Amino acid sequence: MAKKLFIRTYGCQMNVYDSARMADVLAPLGYAATERVEDADMVILNTCHIREHAEEKVFSELGRLRLLKQAKPDGQRLIIAVAGCVAQAEGEEILARAPYVDIVLGPQTYHRLPEMVAKASRAGAQVLDTDFPAEPKFDHLPPQSVQGPSAFLSVQEGCDKFCSFCVVPYTRGGEYSRPVAAVLAEARSLVEGGTCEITLLGQNVNGYHGNGPDGCGWGLGRLIGALADVPGIERIRYTTSHPRDMGEDLIAAHRDIPQLMPFLHLPVQSGSDRILAQMNRQHTADDYRRLIDRLRTAQPDLALSSDFIVGFPGESDADFESTLGLIRDIGFAQAYSFKYSPRPGTPAAAMEDQVAEDSKDERLAALQSLIAAQATAFNQGCVGRSFDVLLDRPGRHAGQLIGRSPYMQSVFVTAPESMLNTVQRLEMVAANPNSLAANLVERRACA
Ligand code: SAH
Ligand code: SF4
Ligand code: F3S
Repeated sequence: MAKKLFIRTYGCQMNVYDSARMADVLAPLGYAATERVEDADMVILNTCHIREHAEEKVFSELGRLRLLKQAKPDGQRLIIAVAGCVAQAEGEEILARAPYVDIVLGPQTYHRLPEMVAKASRAGAQVLDTDFPAEPKFDHLPPQSVQGPSAFLSVQEGCDKFCSFCVVPYTRGGEYSRPVAAVLAEARSLVEGGTCEITLLGQNVNGYHGNGPDGCGWGLGRLIGALADVPGIERIRYTTSHPRDMGEDLIAAHRDIPQLMPFLHLPVQSGSDRILAQMNRQHTADDYRRLIDRLRTAQPDLALSSDFIVGFPGESDADFESTLGLIRDIGFAQAYSFKYSPRPGTPAAAMEDQVAEDSKDERLAALQSLIAAQATAFNQGCVGRSFDVLLDRPGRHAGQLIGRSPYMQSVFVTAPESMLNTVQRLEMVAANPNSLAANLVERRACA
């Protein structure tokens, strides 16, 4: 009988991609995915370490899994594995605190899962593998399984930037870019499986510098150009980018490549130069403003998104005002914002002048209401326009489908189920703060 695998994913899109790849690695061992954790023979928690809250969730989930494991009838084992960034950062502690956990593995070793499972089943001992192997895992992964119309493709991993608040350089390791040929091969196999939209992933995806077939290092703009030439790829996105790596070729790609969607998530974190310097972001607020000007000159229709941290150590009211000023100047279609969370081992956690929790709360509320107003205005500006939407989810109501606009908004439409997983021309008829309602214009099949 097939064994069942349940994976719970926390954190960023990179973890979503990794979870799919872990399932691919375990498929030859007879593991098939289940949506029901109670039915599972193996559970993987693919964890995120970015903020304290993310980490707490892992330990409370482990408590529930322990009860599930204890309740299994004699002889019926449940393998519990903890993967991802908390595993990388706190592997030893997890094994000590949760002795019922069988396997702890980091983000760079999951191609070795079959050996780990064999070892854990055979010896009944805990297995820990949080190496950073010299050989990238990508060289050892099986082909990606069918992903549906919209798929993630990881092209770059790790980070050498060491922003003073961030754990990623420690949990993911150093910067690595996959070779162009490997990316193109994976893209072609996704298209064969029915994918027409690809989102290129990397912790600093625009820092991509993979080896090209010509022996030269290719930047992300050039890679996107080559992907646009792959028949069947209709839409290309990429995330997450750093302002320092927004090269000329990538800006030009926004002007020249129609498949590249007019949306850019470009985290800036703060609008105060003093705080940006303390964060080790290596650019000023005006550098960011100028960069956005260049991008908008190349692609006037570009919608922008960003990440903000409020309450970074030493952030004054005036610093926070500068952040609001930057937001007003740019005008975002959406943004994510977080209260600063001190992370063990990062320089900012040891800084003096930590901001009080209630100031963080106030600033977060003020920033989020400004962003919400901008998002609503952006959505309202879309009403009356028509664009192609990839309908990739059924709606909550019968007869309803949901998709993503070129600008990443959720779009709701009444449409036959046969249109699921197709790109359709829709006219936007109403705006909500977080979504758009639309009508069908004409029918067009995907791919
Ligand atoms: N590589 C990306 C970000 C990855 S982390 C970049 O450079 O932009 C995603 C977001 O989490 C960050 O942009 C930041 O806004 C937030 N973040 C990271 N560390 C944080 C911390 N210690 N506290 C609060 N938010 C944090
Ligand atoms: Fe973290 Fe900065 Fe690297 Fe982004 S660029 S992953 S915020 S260290
Ligand atoms: Fe979280 Fe690791 Fe992604 S810390 S945000 S899962 S890189």
